[in-house]
Amino acid sequence: MKKMIITVWIFLALTSGAIAGAENALQTTSAWTNQSGSTLYITGVGGNGQLTGSYINRASGFNCQNIPYPVTGWVYGTAITFTTIWQNPAESCNSITSWTGFYYNGKIHTLWQLAINGSTSVSQILQGSDTFIQSSSMSQKSLQAK
Ligand code: BTN
Repeated sequence: MKKMIITVWIFLALTSGAIAGAENALQTTSAWTNQSGSTLYITGVGGNGQLTGSYINRASGFNCQNIPYPVTGWVYGTAITFTTIWQNPAESCNSITSWTGFYYNGKIHTLWQLAINGSTSVSQILQGSDTFIQSSSMSQKSLQAK
């Protein structure tokens, strides 16, 4: 009986809450907005660290704005990587962006690269940095330092 309770507890800890389980734990449901006003919605992080969610771009100078696009990625302790394809029946931008970074001091710090379908040179890859802070509307379920 005791073994079963411990097994259930471990399963719940892995699937419904903190991933790292230490300082700067990454949790599974949260919304994060960057310095350009874009928002990353994390809707799930599996026990293996696989991330699912969506992204709404609001950065000026880019198309595909104000529409949710699908996100997949990974969380590994405080390290995080996620990708979106800018393809949607409402608007497609013929491109993909990937962000890689880490959670520290309440923020997700990332570097991103944007590749356009049909590119023939790495010099055509756009790159930059985005820093995300937790959106207040989902403050109870976020990537928070414990
Ligand atoms: C495109 O214009 O090809 C699609 C939209 C790209 C938006 C980029 S992704 C990196 C940067 N961070 C944002 O929040 N938006 C821009």
